[in-house]
Amino acid sequence: MAHSGSHPIVLITGATGYIGRRLTHHLLASQRYKLRLFVRNQRKVQATIVDSVEIHEGSTFEPETLVPALEDVDTAFYLIHSMGSDKDYRKLDMESAENFRRACVAAGVRRIIYLGGLGNRESASKHLLSRIETGEILCSEPGRISTIWFRAGVIVGSGSASFEIIRNLCHKLPFMLTPRWVRTKTEAIGIEDVLAYLEQAIELPTKENLVVDIGSGKITFQDMISGAAEAMGLRRFLVPVPVLSPKISSYWLILFTSVPYRVASSLVEGLKSETVKENDHARMYFPAIEPMSYTDSVAHAMQELEQNQIVSRWCDSSSEKACDIKDFDDPIGAVLRDIRIVPYDNQTSQDSVYRSVCALGGPNGWFRYNFLWRLRGALDKLSGGYGLSRGRRDQVELRVGDALDFWKVVDIRPGKRLLLYAQMKVPGQAWLEFDVQPEQLVQTAHFIPHGVLGRIYWYSVLPVHYLVFSNLARTVVKESGKYDN
Ligand SMILES: NC(=O)c1ccc[n+]([C@@H]2O[C@H](COP(=O)([O-])OP(=O)(O)OC[C@H]3O[C@@H](n4cnc5c(N)ncnc54)[C@H](OP(=O)(O)O)[C@@H]3O)[C@@H](O)[C@H]2O)c1
Repeated sequence: MAHSGSHPIVLITGATGYIGRRLTHHLLASQRYKLRLFVRNQRKVQATIVDSVEIHEGSTFEPETLVPALEDVDTAFYLIHSMGSDKDYRKLDMESAENFRRACVAAGVRRIIYLGGLGNRESASKHLLSRIETGEILCSEPGRISTIWFRAGVIVGSGSASFEIIRNLCHKLPFMLTPRWVRTKTEAIGIEDVLAYLEQAIELPTKENLVVDIGSGKITFQDMISGAAEAMGLRRFLVPVPVLSPKISSYWLILFTSVPYRVASSLVEGLKSETVKENDHARMYFPAIEPMSYTDSVAHAMQELEQNQIVSRWCDSSSEKACDIKDFDDPIGAVLRDIRIVPYDNQTSQDSVYRSVCALGGPNGWFRYNFLWRLRGALDKLSGGYGLSRGRRDQVELRVGDALDFWKVVDIRPGKRLLLYAQMKVPGQAWLEFDVQPEQLVQTAHFIPHGVLGRIYWYSVLPVHYLVFSNLARTVVKESGKYDN
């Protein structure tokens, strides 16, 4: 093993994604490894851990950035995908995996650990096929590097896409028409068990490649909904219908859940055929891990939600080839602006105004004209955007990269500035900036219009902006009293 001091160096790629963030926290807690994170934007790494990890910025599409990141690395986790980038994500996924394996071999990395999806080539959806191809590429030099390839079905954890779908359906729909795909068998596994497998794989005594299928037993999506409803103390009625096309199912899911079409349709497509374990390697090689039952993993996820301890969410990462916030942390090129300045007296502290800004969105809403924000959210959702349904990860804290309704947090200067980038469907690029100064709040909506349509949009919503933005800035200051220490 390559060591730094007494601890082997472990590289985590995808460390700002759903699994990668949790794995980072999990391995930090174990204190057995020196962690190095390979990220596209280091500002997305949670401030509380930056001093405990080494951070390398780069992209697998820029292989030269992998060289310093892999120096002296013993084990490298591959937790990356390009799904959602464009129609050609399969090609991108292959290129990314190829670059990564080559760089690992060249750097003398002992082991790659990869997490993909269950399923086989013959019946796999396009998304699953891409996960399989990635695994095959990472495993393709067995003599030179050992790869442990985990394959999971539905991962149950607070903030995972599948769990948010299940939870939203249970909360919102007492009766559900259930199409055929919900009766297809798959495997569920709690996120804690996934992390346990990933950790134990670092020191698994084998030099061979290994494919390890993980899960807590066969289950259908329908049983997952019923089981989750029971764990939440709800009674739900599922009425089977013979036909409901995957497309209609996906639209139906986006109406009632927080995920966009891309995520809903990949779940539905993935469940058109069985995705169950095809080997017993989990039990053979990791006998100490006894996966939690589905119901227990739901209870665990619900507990995290109730205690506001969501480490990561499906919408933390970017659905693009490039990082979604990289070039958006400065709206300097904006040509249209709506500026609101609200002074405050010396009874009001800058800190409390900042905290009031950071409480916006999600269940707290956007104050008096919340119905207009909701209407904008509904229009966004109808046109294929996120709408307001992503809410917020944490009820108090915001971090760079967090989704906040249809915004993304792109810059935070604690006590001073919050900058949000619009991920709603809009003919241009838009930001909302809160600059908290010692005696006043300066709130600015910045806009770079895309051509004439962008300008028409900006001027046609001016009356709405007048109402919404002036009320927003004033109320943020007014409400700041709630956040006095
Ligand atoms: N989440 C699940 O429920 C689930 C279930 C079964 C299997 N899996 C598997 O687990 C793995 C990780 O999934 P996930 O859900 O954690 O994904 P995710 O949340 O979408 O995160 C993907 C991560 O990859 C990074 N990334 C993307 N392209 C990159 C590139 N070219 N170079 C460097 N970093 C790049 C993203 O960075 P940015 O933050 O900059 O976008 C992000 O950190 C995948 O192989 C997936 O198939 C996940």
